Amino acid sequence: MSASLLPDPLSVTVRAPAKINVYLGVGKARPDGFHPLETVYQAVSLYDDVTVTSAEEWSVRTVAEGPHVDVSGVPDDDTNIVVRAGKALTAHHDVDRKAAIEVRKSIPVAGGMAGGSADAAATLVALDRLWNLDTSDDELLAIAAGLGSDVPFALVGGTATGTGRGEVVTPVEDNGTWWWVVVFNGEGLSTPSVYGAYDLLEGGDHDFRIQPAMLETLRDARSSDSLAVFLYNDLEDAAFHLRPDLERAAEAALECGATMTLLSGSGPTMLAIASGAEDARTIAGMLAGRGFERTAVAHGPVAGAHVVAYG
Ligand code: C5P
Repeated sequence: MSASLLPDPLSVTVRAPAKINVYLGVGKARPDGFHPLETVYQAVSLYDDVTVTSAEEWSVRTVAEGPHVDVSGVPDDDTNIVVRAGKALTAHHDVDRKAAIEVRKSIPVAGGMAGGSADAAATLVALDRLWNLDTSDDELLAIAAGLGSDVPFALVGGTATGTGRGEVVTPVEDNGTWWWVVVFNGEGLSTPSVYGAYDLLEGGDHDFRIQPAMLETLRDARSSDSLAVFLYNDLEDAAFHLRPDLERAAEAALECGATMTLLSGSGPTMLAIASGAEDARTIAGMLAGRGFERTAVAHGPVAGAHVVAYG
């Protein structure tokens, strides 16, 4: 049933951000195979746009929005997470509707920035609006959690802690604008393989805790150097073990003036914190001079999945 007196739109476009984990603590694998996390997510200004239109059958078309995005491995059938998102939403409402979904990707594929999760979150919001389903935020978050650990955060955006397997998202106050140099990598890295290497190398027995002082630094918008000391990713050693080239990218960023580098999620994207937009552009320019040409300058926090156009 349509909850609005207005006719349904013909198409809806929703934009969803990439995420980074400014802190990622990983515990011992649970019986279900997932790892308990304590993480601080931040949504950053690199976005995928998802456009949906009603159709007779589910379909998905993925378009790369830059040379750092390789869509060749993205499924174009019902296994694509955006179709799974659409089916989960229609099943939840017990409606028999289908859509053609177009995904314009600026977030790297298998890059550790939750691009697929962003697309799933965007699809949920877009289809909800396309069909006026009036799904509550709590329902959307529950459906999102069923699709993947990072999908709820892509709905919420901003800066938030993530617990459970990452799907329990609690917004935190972040009054800063933090600048990042994002160093892309041509070769994707599978999340399960990094967690597998982590289990072998570390046993997952870490004492992981988000430090209150880190949250205060975000809340009080202190300097990038103050935040730099808290940046941490438990998966970094495992990712470097699988892909030694990532450590070289981190070293290069430090040599180009970054105070601190960080693996993004499960990689292979690397991040370098910068003191501002200009500093970030300078570091990116110097990295290009050393052969790291595929970079972006991004800032966070930014909004979660939101409508940008009705057609
Ligand atoms: O939840 P999502 O589909 O993004 O997870 C992809 C894979 O990453 C899981 O199948 C699992 O191997 C690994 N993972 C994990 N612990 C988490 C999140 C993901 O082991 N908290």
